[in-house]
Amino acid sequence: MCGIVGYIGKRPAYPILIKGLHRLEYRGYDSAGVALINDQNELTVLKTKGKVADLERYAESKDTSGTIGIAHTRWATHGEPNDRNAHPHYSQSKNLAIIHNGIIENYAVLKTALQKEGFTFQSDTDTEVLVQLIEYVQQNNHCDLCQAVQLALQEVIGAYAIAVIERGNPDLIIAARKSSPLVVGIGEDEFFLASDATPIVEYTHEVVYLEDEEVAIIERNKPLKIVNFKNVEKPLHIKTLEMSISQLEKGGYPHFMLKEIYEQPRTIIDCIRGRINPEGTDVILSGVLDHQEKFLHANRIIIVACGTSWHAGLIGEHLIEDLCRIPVEVEYASEFRYRHPIVRPDDIVIAISQSGETADTLAAVEIARKAGAFIYGICNVIGSSIPRATDSGSYIHVGPEIGVASTKAFTGQVTVLAMLALTIGKLRGSIEPERYHQLIRQLQLIPQKMKTVLGLSDQLADLSKIFTYAHNFIYLGRGYNYPVALEGALKLKEISYIHAEGYPAAEMKHGPIALIDNEMPVIAIATTDSVYEKTISNIQEIKARHGRVVALVTEGNHDVAAMADHVIEIPQVDECLMPLVVSIPLQMLAYYIAINKNRNVDQPRNLAKSVTVE
Ligand code: G6P
Repeated sequence: MCGIVGYIGKRPAYPILIKGLHRLEYRGYDSAGVALINDQNELTVLKTKGKVADLERYAESKDTSGTIGIAHTRWATHGEPNDRNAHPHYSQSKNLAIIHNGIIENYAVLKTALQKEGFTFQSDTDTEVLVQLIEYVQQNNHCDLCQAVQLALQEVIGAYAIAVIERGNPDLIIAARKSSPLVVGIGEDEFFLASDATPIVEYTHEVVYLEDEEVAIIERNKPLKIVNFKNVEKPLHIKTLEMSISQLEKGGYPHFMLKEIYEQPRTIIDCIRGRINPEGTDVILSGVLDHQEKFLHANRIIIVACGTSWHAGLIGEHLIEDLCRIPVEVEYASEFRYRHPIVRPDDIVIAISQSGETADTLAAVEIARKAGAFIYGICNVIGSSIPRATDSGSYIHVGPEIGVASTKAFTGQVTVLAMLALTIGKLRGSIEPERYHQLIRQLQLIPQKMKTVLGLSDQLADLSKIFTYAHNFIYLGRGYNYPVALEGALKLKEISYIHAEGYPAAEMKHGPIALIDNEMPVIAIATTDSVYEKTISNIQEIKARHGRVVALVTEGNHDVAAMADHVIEIPQVDECLMPLVVSIPLQMLAYYIAINKNRNVDQPRNLAKSVTVE
């Protein structure tokens, strides 16, 4: 949520900052801005409402020189997205400029106090309050920028990743974080700063992730220094990035989302690589096996997540209850954190998050920790906050996901959950050896089956044309396919802005059936599984009311074709792995409908990829 970039070194900063902002635009795209210090030591802020391309147009005729700068792309929290509220923000004297991700919760109190001291404000943001506070502290204490930031942050309640530069001080960036990620890239005589590693990877693979309440002193021609708010120096933990630049490009696809949909056969191979033994007879998930006692004696598993990751969690509930016979609860992290949940030391809490930074999920992890539970993370972004806050876990290893609507991360999460359930099930003896081996074999076949469904793209593109102008959609599924129906509906609304609801098929008759008429498209997932016959009855209820049914069925099923308006055939897969395959045509359908409507599928309105505010 919001993107931060910074540069100090020997090259012109502006092109690096702009390129970095483009890479981070998936995090927020309401407005963008840059602050630079030129050779005359002047501090210039250029910012505008809109996307990074709008900023580039705006800056064309302006001075963008200088080898130090900070830049921001925003997802509005305080104050509407407009030029005034865009970052960077100047301090009162225009000596300082700041960029900020997160929320300053006590900004109103601070603002009132600063107003009494004669400070005036140009924007509605909490961020401007922070830069004014830093200036106030600096003026009153006659201290340097670093000290002023350290002192000011001690007055602040909230979450932040910030970077500050100062007129007349072209050799220094001060950055700090609390509950919002920040990473410093170390190049040769140059440093890069960003809210995640994507803008850094093309310049250097050496990075340092800041921890909470750490301040980075990033000074030209000096080694990087990290201190805490009391100015105690912290050791530098330099990490090597494994990401490659090609993973951040579209690779010939028109959109990241389409690229990521097509990547899935490969990302599932990457996800299971090294976790199934070469003979294909055993799953070795070290995050579980290293903590066997915890999993052997767990009384309950609680899954916490948001958005698409929550849908993966619902599939995890089925998998774990089926294969491990441990009771599972799946909670929206945002609800869990505020409802005084009962968590016991023999509970295992699984936090699922693509970004590893979602504020609500991170807060839920902290609650679980305080209650003494064992915490397991299932994340994608290596080194992000949630994996660092958990006791153990498994990365999904699907590579950077740039499209705001999650696709390959969802199937990666479900794959890890399947391996997790198999591992725990074997440990606890709750799964028959024959079923265990059969599911491992099936899991290895998933990438091939995904390739087969990707071959349905023409059929789905044609189908999308029929439904582009529908105003509402209903998605139905039962059992393992109920969360897939929820996820299919979410994909459609996220990128096409068509209202869509996912529902357990049998619940239809308790309300939503009132919506059915000959204009209502119903996507019914009716693959051959233990609830197939029941789902068929539900389809008949819809047809009896003239609903328009698109049915997803198992290859070779001709019965449903007789009653549905359109049929999409999916290869046969064991029911508990079916979500991995059946979710792909739903991703593609949403994609094509959104394209027909000329939507920005990679950056849909009002959304952000990584939600680091609650
Ligand atoms: C945002 C994204 C969703 C994502 C959700 C949870 O809303 O737009 O695609 O599912 O956050 O994110 P996480 O990174 O925790 O999986």
